[in-house]
Amino acid sequence: MSNFDEIIEICKRRGFFWPSFQIYGGSAGLYDYAPLGTILKENVYKIWMDEYLKIGAIPYDSPSITPEAVFRASGHLQRFADLATTCEQCKSSFKVESLLSSQGINMVPLNEEQAASLLIDNKIRCPKCGAFLKSAYNFNLMFQISSNGAEKLYLRPETAQGIFVNFKLLITYNRGKLPLIVIQRGKGFRNEISPRQAIIRQREFNMAEVEVFLDPSNKSSFYPYKGELITLLSNDGKEQKTDIEKAFVDGIIGTPEHAYFMEITLRIALRMGIDRNRLRFRQHRKDELAHYSSDCWDLEFQLDEDWVEIVGISDRGQFDVKNHQNSSGQNMSVGENGDIIPKVLEPAYGIDRMIMAILSSSYNKRDSGYKVLSLKQEISPYVLAILPLQKKDGLTEKAQEIFNAMRQFEPRILFDDSGSIGRRYSRQDEIGTPYCITVDYDTLSRDIVTIRERDSQRQIKEVPMSSLTVGGPFLNNDILDRFK
Ligand code: GLY
Repeated sequence: MSNFDEIIEICKRRGFFWPSFQIYGGSAGLYDYAPLGTILKENVYKIWMDEYLKIGAIPYDSPSITPEAVFRASGHLQRFADLATTCEQCKSSFKVESLLSSQGINMVPLNEEQAASLLIDNKIRCPKCGAFLKSAYNFNLMFQISSNGAEKLYLRPETAQGIFVNFKLLITYNRGKLPLIVIQRGKGFRNEISPRQAIIRQREFNMAEVEVFLDPSNKSSFYPYKGELITLLSNDGKEQKTDIEKAFVDGIIGTPEHAYFMEITLRIALRMGIDRNRLRFRQHRKDELAHYSSDCWDLEFQLDEDWVEIVGISDRGQFDVKNHQNSSGQNMSVGENGDIIPKVLEPAYGIDRMIMAILSSSYNKRDSGYKVLSLKQEISPYVLAILPLQKKDGLTEKAQEIFNAMRQFEPRILFDDSGSIGRRYSRQDEIGTPYCITVDYDTLSRDIVTIRERDSQRQIKEVPMSSLTVGGPFLNNDILDRFK
């Protein structure tokens, strides 16, 4: 099994996520977050929001259902499409770009004719039945939904438009000041031609988008602050490990705000526990830029052999605000003279993919086959489990009493008394719980417990119960230091 398959197996078995609607045969590209995944996802969102609130962002929450006029103005109606092909023999459909790249041809065809020629000239076959593929067509990725009136409605493919259309309200809320950073988390919907890889490519997915509105004439709103070292792969094919500030100074990254938000993004990914050595920034080739974008750097994560986009940081310029001004007739300009149309930089986070990157970075399989998810405490669904050594002699009741008391201080806490103590430790290790407290006979007689740490598997015995809730949410630093 690949690393990816092993993680998916744990996630399904332990309850991080499950394919949706399984009793009716399931539906491609739809996943439920199960109980553990739901908590983990909230922890991921919290870090993302914390980091943006720290730099003055304001949060927003607009509907998923969106009228057609919005996507006509944004260009999604006309241009948010993939070139697809359908096998004449078995009727399976595929994205042409993916078929080409699986043959080492990394390009996005310009139109239906070019896509069909590339399929024919390269003798591309249907991956399902082997028949030659001969034709291509444009397939819009938005879901249109039925409504009870004449108005046409769509499920949003990005949360961004809900922010752009209300730019005037948001800038007034911000006392008319640029720069303005607006953040929005929520669901996005795309009718993927071939959903795959579990939560990596879904038809309904979790997004966290940031729209940074800037005065186009003011060059100095944001500047890279740290000089973070990371691999950069620019669209001229050059790959180098460099620091982001230097890459801006050397002209590899086009604007200071692009470099600044690449650093913020890297900081967020590292805080979540994503492995720095499996991250790189890759600049989009001109032929793969979205219709609204003039430059884009993706933060990519290496998942087995593949590099997967987890965040896209795109320069949208004045494209969206101008288009909504033209289409709606509402004046979107700001500034003392009312003559500034802001430009926008957009870091857009794929939360499901970040979760996969976190899980993959945290997954360790020991030589014995023993599996551990070394999740950071801030990210793990639970931070602590209370385990009675045995289910007799009042140990369960004592453990339950401790659990009830500690839950008041730390809600991400579990109680588990089913199975042997070894099995319970391994269950906690597999779901990433950093600490277990074992309640034994000494707890009954002397009010002391044993604390076990996940990664070292070390145990500290004779910890007085009085120290458990003192000086911190559940374990004081004196105890934590003893695991170092
Ligand atoms: N708003 C970024 C995206 O749609 O991917």
